[in-house]
Amino acid sequence: MRRLEIKNLHTTADDFEILKGVNLLIKTGEVHAVMGPNGTGKSTLASTIMGYYKYQVSAGDILLDDESILPLTVDERSRRGIFLAMQHPYEISGITNADFIKAALQARMKEGERLSLYRFIKHFDRVVNDLQMNPDLPHRYLNEGFSGGEKKRNEILQMKMLKPNFAILDEIDSGLDVDALKIVGDNINQMRGPDFGALIITHYQRLLDYIDVDYVHIMMGGRIVMSGGTELIEKIDKDGYEWVKAELGLENGDAKPVSSVLKDCAFKGLRE
Ligand SMILES: Nc1ncnc2c1ncn2[C@@H]1O[C@H](COP(=O)(O)OP(=O)(O)O)[C@@H](O)[C@H]1O
Ligand SMILES: [Mg+2]
Repeated sequence: MRRLEIKNLHTTADDFEILKGVNLLIKTGEVHAVMGPNGTGKSTLASTIMGYYKYQVSAGDILLDDESILPLTVDERSRRGIFLAMQHPYEISGITNADFIKAALQARMKEGERLSLYRFIKHFDRVVNDLQMNPDLPHRYLNEGFSGGEKKRNEILQMKMLKPNFAILDEIDSGLDVDALKIVGDNINQMRGPDFGALIITHYQRLLDYIDVDYVHIMMGGRIVMSGGTELIEKIDKDGYEWVKAELGLENGDAKPVSSVLKDCAFKGLRE
C-alpha cells in the first residue's frame, strides 16, 4: 500500500495565500472526492501536489510514502506514480497524442529498455475503444481542436495508459454530456484496485453518481472543513454549501472552523 499525505499545506501564488492548512491522507485502494464552491482552492491543491511552478508551498508538506516530494520536479513526481488530469488541459500543436504518451511511457522505463511499439499500439487502441473515442485520435495533435468533452476523455486516456498509483482528477466532469459522464465514470471505476488511489475534485455531485467513492471532503476558503462519506454528496446536491458554513459557524469568506467539529470528525477515523 502506498500513501499520499498532505500535511498542513499552505500555498501562495503571487504572495496571495490560497491554501491555508490542508490535511488529507490518501492510500492506494481508496477513492476520495473533494467538493467545494468555486474559488476555494481545489485546483490549487491539485496543482500544488503535482508541483506546478506558479504555486509556492509556504508551510506544511506533501509526503509520498513518508518522503517529502516538495523538492521533486513535476516529471519526477509523475514517474513516482502521481498523475494530474487538469481542469483546463493544454493544447500542444506539433505533438501527436500517440507520441506524447509514448514519450511519457518511455520515460518511466529503465535505462536501456525500449517500449514495444506493437504492445503500445494495441494498448492505445484498446483504451481509445474503452473511452469510445474517435479512432483517428492517436494521430491528432495533443488536444488541438478537441471539444471540451474530448479533452477530458483524453486526460482519462492518459491516466489509463500511464497507470498511476495516485490520480488527481480536477473537474473531469466539466464539459461532459451525460453519456460521456457515464463512460468516464465507468473507466475511473475500472481503475479501482489495490494499486490505485484517486482524488476526484468536483463542483457538482453528478460525476459521483457514476463513481464509487469512499470518502468525501468539503473544501472552503483554502481548507478542508468537513470530511465524511457519500451522505455528504447527497446533502450538497440537495442543499448546496450554505449549511456547511452554518453548521461549522463559519463567517462568509472565512473558512476557519470555529467549532470543534473538524477535530472530532471523520478525519481521525480516516487516519487510523
Ligand atoms: N496568482 C494568483 N493571485 C491571486 N489569487 C489567485 C491566484 N491564482 C489563483 N488565485 C485565487 O485563488 C482562489 C482559488 O483558486 P482555485 O484553486 O482555482 O479554486 P477552485 O479550483 O476551487 O475553483 C481563487 O479565488 C483564485 O482567484
Ligand atoms: Mg478549479
